[in-house]
Amino acid sequence: MQVLIYLVYLFASVLFIFGIKRLGSPKTARQGNMLSSLGMFLAVVVTLFDQRVLTFEYIIIGVLIGSALGAIMALKVPMTGMPQMVGLLNGFGGGASALVAFAEYSHIMITPDIHVDLSTSITIVLSILIGSVTFTGSLIAFGKLQEIVTGKVVKYPLQHPLNVVLFLAVLVTGVLVVLDPTQINLLLIIAIISLVLGVLLVLPIGGADMPVAISLLNSYSGIAASMTGFVLQNNMLIIAGALVGASGIILTLIMCRGMNRSLMNVVLGGWASAGSGGPAASSGVQNKPVKSVDAEEAAMLFESAQNVVIVPGYGMAVAQAQHAVRDLANVLEKIGINVRFAIHPVAGRMPGHMNVLLAEAQVSYDKLYALEDINDDFNNVDVAFIVGANDVVNPAARHDQNSPIYGMPILNVDYAKTVIVNKRSLNVGYAGIDNELFYGDNTLMYFGDAKDAITKLVHEVKNL
Ligand code: TAP
Repeated sequence: MQVLIYLVYLFASVLFIFGIKRLGSPKTARQGNMLSSLGMFLAVVVTLFDQRVLTFEYIIIGVLIGSALGAIMALKVPMTGMPQMVGLLNGFGGGASALVAFAEYSHIMITPDIHVDLSTSITIVLSILIGSVTFTGSLIAFGKLQEIVTGKVVKYPLQHPLNVVLFLAVLVTGVLVVLDPTQINLLLIIAIISLVLGVLLVLPIGGADMPVAISLLNSYSGIAASMTGFVLQNNMLIIAGALVGASGIILTLIMCRGMNRSLMNVVLGGWASAGSGGPAASSGVQNKPVKSVDAEEAAMLFESAQNVVIVPGYGMAVAQAQHAVRDLANVLEKIGINVRFAIHPVAGRMPGHMNVLLAEAQVSYDKLYALEDINDDFNNVDVAFIVGANDVVNPAARHDQNSPIYGMPILNVDYAKTVIVNKRSLNVGYAGIDNELFYGDNTLMYFGDAKDAITKLVHEVKNL
């Protein structure tokens, strides 16, 4: 039986690895999701055959409640609520790891003649530390995104020294537990300090930086699960936790690179602390003249174009304009115009945000181009149409060394023959800075809420 369990665990691990690989492209992502889900299902089922499972009542009750809640959340949570849902799930994962480690510790303590070896005591301490930090940190992240907790950067007196002191306290207490594993009170102290640390570490992060923090907490939840795997000597949990831990940290670094910011800069408050403490600080708007167009004029510009590139950004997500954007692409293609979409790696507020929205609106994947695949081609583009994007098309990132986004790769839309920017005003985006693109000789502003404005535009193009 034990050999069969190991073999199924091995097979499930392979499914996880292939699943993650397939999640790397929108074309194969659904299949990747299915493979990983199957792996998880097999892992859960085969774990129930473990000899240590004595009664099934509580497990069945847990499965029923958990599955029902999961199904309701999956159906009810809107696409825009995804980051906070992931945050909440990370928190539960971290909390579960800490509780399992605690339960295993209690079990060892009441079992006569069992000696706690060094690796078990170290991993119990680490599971409780990382799991507890992840639990409260993720709850605060959820609260910030859900606007239950303030989304602003929260500074408090002696912020950094206090965190260092608490961390050292956990470290010292952890060493004491490892030296004398019978000290259950010390383990409780570690749990309490770690829960406080989770709150204090996430509170100062600006609400708009939360996607990066959530990705980091996701990584922590994986590491906590992996540590618990060592406590339970369960290879499956070690592998699954390590995969979550590694992929979470890789995603975090990709996001930071896409924004040209260090992880420290995000974690310590970064851009947000320089501005109003949140997204769309309204500083830095210049009083220069801009040229604007209405729907009819914009439609005429499209009519004389052959190559159009649409650049979606956060504003498209806010306005839920993806269906209108799809309609625009369709009507332009009907009159013989080549339409492509340029997707910046950090457009919007979560990884793959634009890809997911456009996929929801049935825009074909082969029309979506990543920054590196389209950036050299903007010289050949007749109209670059920007829909609610701002920072990801700000040319200051290329040349203004004083700009907070200097060095961030941007889409070279200003190289197109004509640039049409749709947004509601000249207001700033996430980085809180003005955008020189709006004042360019070849730029025309098309003001209005993305959904309304593009619906009008579609109407005008149809009437040409
Ligand atoms: P932003 O620079 O944030 O700009 C979005 C623009 O959308 C705003 O300037 C706003 O201008 C406009 N807008 C808002 N509501 C609108 C509506 N209803 N209709 C039309 N326009 C609307 O967006 P971006 O260019 O996508 O850049 C993303 C930013 O988020 C980057 O700075 C990135 O570093 C950051 N970030 C991204 C991620 C990930 S993983 N994607 C994670 C964390 C941070 P108006 O108010 O004038 O309309």
